[in-house]
Amino acid sequence: MALEQIRQRIRQGLARSPTWEWDRLRATPIARTEYLITCHCLDRYLPGTGLILDAGCGPGRYAVDLARQGYRVMMFDLMPEYLQFGRAKVAEAGVSDRVGAPVAGDVAALPYADDVFDAVISLGAPLSHLTEAQARSRTVAEMARVVKPGGWVFLTGLTRLAIYRSLVYWPCSWEFFDHVTAAETRASGIVDGSLTWYTFAPGELEALATCAGLHIVDRVGCEGLAAHLPMPHLERVEADRKRWPVWKEILLETCNEPTIIGVSNHLLVIARKPEP
Ligand SMILES: C[S@@+](CC[C@H](N)C(=O)[O-])C[C@H]1O[C@@H](n2cnc3c(N)ncnc32)[C@H](O)[C@@H]1O
Repeated sequence: MALEQIRQRIRQGLARSPTWEWDRLRATPIARTEYLITCHCLDRYLPGTGLILDAGCGPGRYAVDLARQGYRVMMFDLMPEYLQFGRAKVAEAGVSDRVGAPVAGDVAALPYADDVFDAVISLGAPLSHLTEAQARSRTVAEMARVVKPGGWVFLTGLTRLAIYRSLVYWPCSWEFFDHVTAAETRASGIVDGSLTWYTFAPGELEALATCAGLHIVDRVGCEGLAAHLPMPHLERVEADRKRWPVWKEILLETCNEPTIIGVSNHLLVIARKPEP
């Protein structure tokens, strides 16, 4: 799909304004879990200082968080309006001195030299916007090219198994049931809903990283044990001052448990570029 076509699809997608995208990670208990687990992994693996490329940064929630922690960050995304919104959020947070001028472009052709970044993060599944296999492998190869030897790459994608579960979980998804379960969709992994998404089969994102010469360090289900639990139940445990810290600890302890990562909505693969 041509880039302009992807931009148009994102603009036409329901509730895809910069504000909606910025609010997304705080809006529902399941998105808050995605944010909690992703931030936990960033804390756990990022080096503490250095230059980070946020590739597919959207309006920049993670970029702002990381700049607040003292990292220098470059914001990169396809959508100029997300970047413009993100720039205002960076200024509001008082971290403009640590965030470079946002760059609009395609993650499959990064306008940076080799071995520049201490880490490249691509969170919230930008790779799932790429419906062509060649674009996905070129993108991961680009991320591997621009990260320094020894540097970190965080890749996320939507998982195919979770899409099947979501069909039954969300009554509003029922209208997509026939399309998503059709033999052609199941074979291609490309789901046409309010947006067009590529969904990753188990092991596929890891294979892309390995093919790009990266070494896999961890795999995480960003929604972890909370994936597909009813929202009112998740809200209840979040609001419970005694139980929430215990549940949170268990969520973080188990987020890379192999039996649950495949059915999480977002899969996070954490990889490293080998040192020569
Ligand atoms: C769901 S948003 C995630 C935003 C942010 N990383 C987060 O987690 O909140 C996916 C982002 O990928 C961006 N994207 C999609 N295709 C892209 C491409 N070819 N090049 C750069 N960015 C792209 C979209 O514009 C969108 O901002």
